[in-house]
Amino acid sequence: MKKYSEKVNKIVYGGDYNPEQWPEDIWREDMRLFKEAGIDIVTLNVFSWAAIQPSEEEYDFSKLDKIMEMVRENGLKVCLATSTGAHPAWMAKRHPDILRVDFEGRKHKFGARHNSCPNSPTYQKYSVKLAEKIAGRYKGYENIVAWHISNEYGGECYCENCERAFRAWLREKYKTLEEVNRAWNTSFWGHTFYDWDEIVLPNALSEHFEPERSMFQGITLDYRRFNSDSILNCYRMEYDAVKKITPDIPVTTNLMGFYPALDYQKWGRYMDVVSWDNYPDVDASPAEIAMQHDLMRGVGGGNPFLLMEQTPGVTNWHTYCALKRPGVMRLWSYQAVAHGADSVMFFQMRRSIGACEKYHSAVIDHVGNGETRVFKETAALGKELKKLGGDLLGAVSDAKAAIYFDWDNWWALNCTAGPTMDLEYKAQVLDYYKALHGLNIPVDFVGANDGLDKYKLLIAPVLYMTKTGYDEKVRRFVEHGGTFVTTFFSGIVDEHDLVITGGYPGKLRDILGIWAEEIDALPRDKENSFDYNGRTYPARLLCDLIHPEGAKELGAYQKDFYAGMPAVTVNEFGKGRAYYVATRSDEHFFRAFLEDVCRECGIKPLFERADGMEATVRENENGRFLFLLNHGDRVLEVRAEETCVDLLTEERVSGGEEIRIEPKDVKIMRITQ
Ligand code: GLA
Ligand code: ZN
Repeated sequence: MKKYSEKVNKIVYGGDYNPEQWPEDIWREDMRLFKEAGIDIVTLNVFSWAAIQPSEEEYDFSKLDKIMEMVRENGLKVCLATSTGAHPAWMAKRHPDILRVDFEGRKHKFGARHNSCPNSPTYQKYSVKLAEKIAGRYKGYENIVAWHISNEYGGECYCENCERAFRAWLREKYKTLEEVNRAWNTSFWGHTFYDWDEIVLPNALSEHFEPERSMFQGITLDYRRFNSDSILNCYRMEYDAVKKITPDIPVTTNLMGFYPALDYQKWGRYMDVVSWDNYPDVDASPAEIAMQHDLMRGVGGGNPFLLMEQTPGVTNWHTYCALKRPGVMRLWSYQAVAHGADSVMFFQMRRSIGACEKYHSAVIDHVGNGETRVFKETAALGKELKKLGGDLLGAVSDAKAAIYFDWDNWWALNCTAGPTMDLEYKAQVLDYYKALHGLNIPVDFVGANDGLDKYKLLIAPVLYMTKTGYDEKVRRFVEHGGTFVTTFFSGIVDEHDLVITGGYPGKLRDILGIWAEEIDALPRDKENSFDYNGRTYPARLLCDLIHPEGAKELGAYQKDFYAGMPAVTVNEFGKGRAYYVATRSDEHFFRAFLEDVCRECGIKPLFERADGMEATVRENENGRFLFLLNHGDRVLEVRAEETCVDLLTEERVSGGEEIRIEPKDVKIMRITQ
């Protein structure tokens, strides 16, 4: 199969285009405006199921045929969707099994989108049939560069089909009911199951007291895995259907960053190229956005990804739909590229006139011409991307630091009862990511199955769940000279959320050289403090009360009955070291601490630090490319460390010379020495 990057010769530029919402004379005008804006790819057919299959017996491709012809004639590439993100109304009426049942147990009616039950026989049959028909019909179109299966898969279903499928999934996984009972610790509250049919889905009618919080974490965890697998199965069935017909076209579906319902690390294994939709809040920090890009790159095994959607201006669904300020669309587009995107794509090309997205911006606004600020900014970026050409395609990062992130761990932390309601996994991860980002130290995200050989540093914030074998992986990594950092509330449970007895942090105890005896939860308005390198930092959220068992204390709590107990430790283990940060602190601590850790393990920043500046490097056989992005409002003057050439202005800067970066501007430089 051809890789995505071999299908294109530059960073493609375009996005979701819904001509079926418009009369044909508008299409011609769109083609003209696309040319003006440097658009060279459109994502078609995302929500056309009802149009293509007007009834159970009938398929009608006449409109899509015309659109496909037109965009080909106009030299546009296509990301072709299978349209299974929203089922037709007639299908819901005739086959109610396609409708989902929600967390409260309510059977839904036809409406909205992303609404089909993944275990519905009707959905499975007709979605695959549609994908097959579309692939068969358009297989000869050389300009299709990727399949876009369905759209933003997600949500959950609690219908009877899902319940039956859950039991089958459990049988496959556990083989016997005894094993299920053991894994879920059902002797608690007299839950022993004697028949598979006694098992029901965990929702508001059964085990949950809140959408996230469960009485039986083991059941909920397995349901989350099952639901993610069920939806993945729908994706995979369509994947197989199109792949059989067009083996050379890479397949993707658009992911959503830190999206809790689906285990994207598992999904990534079945995607030829990962793509995702980037919709940050206007006040999102550059680090928060960067972290999502890096997670998505990690899900795709470190390969480049596609920026499938972003808004050119404004969304319709944030609480306050603030405009992207001048220059920000360009800056965020390049930020995606800086982190590994090989495309810059929008939702959407022309703004709808009806329903909920009429106030979501588009390249072509309601005014219908090329005179808007958004259009002009789009066209200017289109020109630049043409100039940038294809040298960057396929380029990857060479990070030496990795952050461990795991969906099972996320689910387990979300549904746990105690020790605090305020613990958010993503926020803990961001603490560490942000500090590295601020230090211009690039990061890869790794999951439980990813190798660690290329890394010097592995940070696993709140590694609550130690999956079977993961302690061994960490042990080997540290023994061979790696540096490992983990935090409070780690090493507590196995993959069933059953506590590993014998003292926290369980199987990590020897690596970290500590025993965590108790965990104290602090309310939002209370904090402890600890010293580290002669300074005092706040201790918040959770404080583990730990005893060194070989580890050296680097800082101790200063208040309460555990004053004097260690808050930060390091353990020499084999050729490496393992740090334990027993509490949550603030950004000053994380930066100071990680600066020390990185220095000690020999990880150098990519570039000198400057407020508001982000630096990344991508490299491939065409060279090393340095990105410097100024997210701030002040001009930055930084010093080039090596000789490089600006890809957009062709200016050459020698090592030691100053680089001036205007607010919201970006420098993309080929390092020449
Ligand atoms: C998602 C969807 C699109 C569109 C945008 C609006 O990303 O995939 O169809 O609804 O949101 O922001
Ligand atoms: Zn269902």
